[in-house]
Amino acid sequence: MTFEIENVSKTFVSNDSDEEVLALKDINLTIETGKFISLVGPSGCGKTTLLRIIEGFVKPTEGTVKDDGEIVTGPSNQRGFIFQNYSLFPWLNVIDNVIFGLNIDGKPEKESKERAMKYLEDVGLKDFAERYPHELSGGMKQRVAIIRSLINDSKSLLMDETFSALDVQTKHKLQKQIHEICQKQNKTIIFVTHDIDEAVFLSDEIIVLSRRPGRIKKIFEIKLEHPRNRDSEEFKDLISEITQEIGELEDE
Ligand SMILES: Nc1ncnc2c1ncn2[C@@H]1O[C@H](COP(=O)(O)OP(=O)(O)OP(=O)(O)O)[C@@H](O)[C@H]1O
Ligand SMILES: [Mg+2]
Repeated sequence: MTFEIENVSKTFVSNDSDEEVLALKDINLTIETGKFISLVGPSGCGKTTLLRIIEGFVKPTEGTVKDDGEIVTGPSNQRGFIFQNYSLFPWLNVIDNVIFGLNIDGKPEKESKERAMKYLEDVGLKDFAERYPHELSGGMKQRVAIIRSLINDSKSLLMDETFSALDVQTKHKLQKQIHEICQKQNKTIIFVTHDIDEAVFLSDEIIVLSRRPGRIKKIFEIKLEHPRNRDSEEFKDLISEITQEIGELEDE
């Protein structure tokens, strides 16, 4: 069992007024090792906040998050986090971006670079190892950011709308890659997305949050076999069922 989220609520208090925003309310969730979990729900329902609480960037107002039995009190290299905006270092080339975290850990550079090259090869970026971020397309930058998180061998990976800015082809390719890599390494993934097709394609479970304050509204278990067929009736039915669940929330 990887994550235990117990009675988590979050209230934000703004600095310049006394106004309080209740972002999350009584979230209880157990996420088992090796599972791919998606969080979906209307804009502003607290998805990013929940992800940041699980990572340890934000403290919950109430409740606790445990990672393998230990209460999360701050970020850890056991948990990788992939931001939406790629966040590469512009002054480092691709391979140095990828091994940045390993360098901090004091790993030998030659070994790190060899490992990084294997990963880059996997995602078709071998020939771009010496290039700088400004020379890459959005999809390439995103692949570099993903590899940088994967190479750290964290047990889990938290992803916030990671693929949202990509064209459909690149997105589908990366979805397949992330699925394969995570299965191989038995990583636990918590994935925030607005893209229900993507959530159904990848997830073992899809968690629908209600409008703010976000509560768990419904959990869909997705049992379709991999690789999933987007043209199958079951796939399409799940998309419309989940979309409807979120749509109803947005009309409330
Ligand atoms: N640092 C903060 N200070 C104050 N309020 C915040 C802060 N972060 C988030 N909020 C508020 O908490 C609520 C949830 O925000 P959050 O970013 O978690 O939503 P979200 O579900 O990720 O939305 P989206 O789908 O648009 O990304 C919003 O009302 C937001 O304004
Ligand atoms: Mg968000």
